[in-house]
Amino acid sequence: MNLTELNRIATAMVVSGKGILAADESSGTIKKRFDAIGVDSTEDNRRDYREMLFRSREAMSQYISGVILYDETIWQDAKDGTPLIRLIEQSGAIPGIKVDEGTQALPMCPGELVTVGLDKLAERLKKYYERGARFAKWRAVIDIGSGIPSMTAISVNAHALARYAALCQAAQIVPIVEPEVLMDGDHDIDRCYEVTTRVLNKTFQELRVQRVALEGMVLKPNMAISGKKCAKQASVEEVAEKTIRLLRACVPAAVPGIAFLSGGQSDEEATAHLNAMHKLGPLPWGLTFSYGRALQAAPQKAWSGKAENVAAGQTAFSHRARMNGLASKGEWQSSLEKKAA
Ligand code: 13P
Repeated sequence: MNLTELNRIATAMVVSGKGILAADESSGTIKKRFDAIGVDSTEDNRRDYREMLFRSREAMSQYISGVILYDETIWQDAKDGTPLIRLIEQSGAIPGIKVDEGTQALPMCPGELVTVGLDKLAERLKKYYERGARFAKWRAVIDIGSGIPSMTAISVNAHALARYAALCQAAQIVPIVEPEVLMDGDHDIDRCYEVTTRVLNKTFQELRVQRVALEGMVLKPNMAISGKKCAKQASVEEVAEKTIRLLRACVPAAVPGIAFLSGGQSDEEATAHLNAMHKLGPLPWGLTFSYGRALQAAPQKAWSGKAENVAAGQTAFSHRARMNGLASKGEWQSSLEKKAA
């Protein structure tokens, strides 16, 4: 393992002004997104859509530091035969790959999940590195509800995240460690804060036990935020203040960067939250976005599967990427959104 190089890549992934495009929807998830815009989820349509994003010159060269791909995409070619991964490299962004294989029910723990995909992971990582991937992602899912999460779910998911992260570093790939506490319930922000604290503490404990070099990883957490069905929704300032307090308490300064998931927040909320956190600096780590939905909802709608809408899709993507790029420096203002509308 070359830790200097891992650290160089992790630092580039969270450089101020840029963030990560999570374009790694599994076949099931991208079908849901395409259903919403009335597009068939065929291999060609998935290729055309992602090619549109990766050829968005302004977004990719100025505001996107890295792209997380799904297995299908990393082997796919653009219409003109150029591998899609080369388009990402040519834009100056770093290609990455989602390597978990989704979730399964956790035995003895009703309603809870464990992420799978460790078997043969070392061999898969080797092939992805040869293809050009320089970082990877593994997502654990923790749900909040009555009597959950259990310590069992937190432990087994943290253990798997650390196993994955160690395998990545041994393969010279920067692991994005993503323990996502879902925002789907009716819990308030303080319950999210408490559960996320337990999850991050356990995750870092496992990372240490399994000898993962913190200097060569990126953390992808949820924010401290109210459940979607909670009657009392915390303000932007409260989300920013509690998230930063939580991260300061749980994330060692050796970690080069933190890149948030959007998790179902609206586009503008995800941007406003990140921006407000940068008002609370200086921070010990790079702090940016690794958004899926909050970067892609607008371009998906603008594109709607029609070749004549590619330019409109790229404009929508570039706008969201620019807004989040500004937020990663604390320089975003809501008036910039209105001007664009
Ligand atoms: P969202 O931003 O849509 O939550 O997706 C990010 C991601 O990669 C989840 O694993």
